[in-house]
Amino acid sequence: MKGETTICNGGENGVGRRAFIKAAGAATAGVALTQAPFNVWAGTGSAGTPALLGGKPVHVKGWPKWPRWIPETDEAGLLKVIRSGVWSRAGVVSEFEKRWAEAMGAKRCLAVVNGTNALITALAQLDVGAGDEVILPPYTFIATPQSILMNGAIPVFCDVDPATYQLDPKKIEAKITPRTRAILPVHILGLPADMTAIMAIAKKHSLIVVEDACQAWMAEIGGKKCGTFGNAGCYSFQNSKNMAIGEGGAIVSDDGAFMDRCYSYHNYGNAYGTAVGAVGGGTVMLGTKQRITEYQAAIGLAQLARLEGESVKRHGNAEYLKGKIKGIPGIAPYELSPGVTRAAFHLFPFRYDKAEFHNMPRATFLKALSAEGVPCASGYGPLNKGQYVKQAFSTKNFRRMYAPADLDYAAWLERTRCPENDRLCEEAVWLSQNLLLAEKADMDDIADAIAKVHANAGKLAKA
Ligand SMILES: Cc1ncc(COP(=O)(O)O)c(C=O)c1O
Repeated sequence: MKGETTICNGGENGVGRRAFIKAAGAATAGVALTQAPFNVWAGTGSAGTPALLGGKPVHVKGWPKWPRWIPETDEAGLLKVIRSGVWSRAGVVSEFEKRWAEAMGAKRCLAVVNGTNALITALAQLDVGAGDEVILPPYTFIATPQSILMNGAIPVFCDVDPATYQLDPKKIEAKITPRTRAILPVHILGLPADMTAIMAIAKKHSLIVVEDACQAWMAEIGGKKCGTFGNAGCYSFQNSKNMAIGEGGAIVSDDGAFMDRCYSYHNYGNAYGTAVGAVGGGTVMLGTKQRITEYQAAIGLAQLARLEGESVKRHGNAEYLKGKIKGIPGIAPYELSPGVTRAAFHLFPFRYDKAEFHNMPRATFLKALSAEGVPCASGYGPLNKGQYVKQAFSTKNFRRMYAPADLDYAAWLERTRCPENDRLCEEAVWLSQNLLLAEKADMDDIADAIAKVHANAGKLAKA
């Protein structure tokens, strides 16, 4: 979870020890009355006083740690690499790429240093650059628009669907101009974007599609993996990710010539496969260096062995939790796009409507929920208003690539207004993926904690 605006860490640390003891003493003082469908504390004897006001937290036992490292199963492969002294890209990286391509159901995979560079490389090798516009959603991590700007193209933000939080296909066509070259849907939070609708629009307008699946490992629409619908799919294996290596990324595609170019580009432009001029060997095209190491790949293989099981567990727990909290007034959980058969749930999102919580600000809700032992965050801010675009437009490269009228920042801001996203950024609450690796009883705790905050909103709002 990176780039979020506010994080509240709860768990055992969410409330001071003295407050905890005081709360435990008061535990019998009041039992909050709750209604179905959320089974709060009725009958358990727990305190009804919010933990933020000194009551006993709902959840005290903490959450599964992330990333996971299991010495018995994970260390042999890593030690073998370290002891071999072959640390630069070789057979273990190739093995990881083969396994990742298989897991995604793609013909080819290239591992690169991170998700940001996976996106930069994919766009570059699909020839997206100066003079091009790329349509993307504003509800994403900063790396998505940066990958467009880094290639000299202009990001054009298109608003999100209020229910799924993903790029809204109904709004894409209004953003298309003769300069539009690509759509960059993001499966944000690990919830798949509506790829069926997006691919139909791309086909109609002959647009390239690069999927930012940096948070959507193993997510599926109709059994097909996110990242395999467009010309290329990009993944991140950064430390917080469901598939964590520390740093790392990957590009997948079925287009062999494109993948050859990506390989060459990630290796200084040295000849590879069918990449331009490969016949003569040597350095044949513009390139950089983005290779991952053998020990990163060894860690990746260890994580990949657990990814399917963990993904199934997150999805099951998320849907269970959604069912438990959707009846709480003022809490509106995500909806999945049509045809989604599995979401990755890098984050579990819901909207918070303060009107149903005595107008308690979201920041107080986050603190109160954290104090109950449920860590949570407020999520992204509106990326379509970022100063970084203004700065990019002022650079020498952009000024030489575009006419002044193309770099009118005020006009760009107006064109990329996204009111639904503004509202989402103000209302969203995120729970991180490791919570979803706990047990059903822990999901009950989350629902109970939210209901408890709701039941006490009047007191909390005044505190
Ligand atoms: C949606 C999205 N895109 C791109 C990236 C960039 O990935 P990385 O951090 O591996 O460069 C991230 C990572 O946080 C992401 O969440």
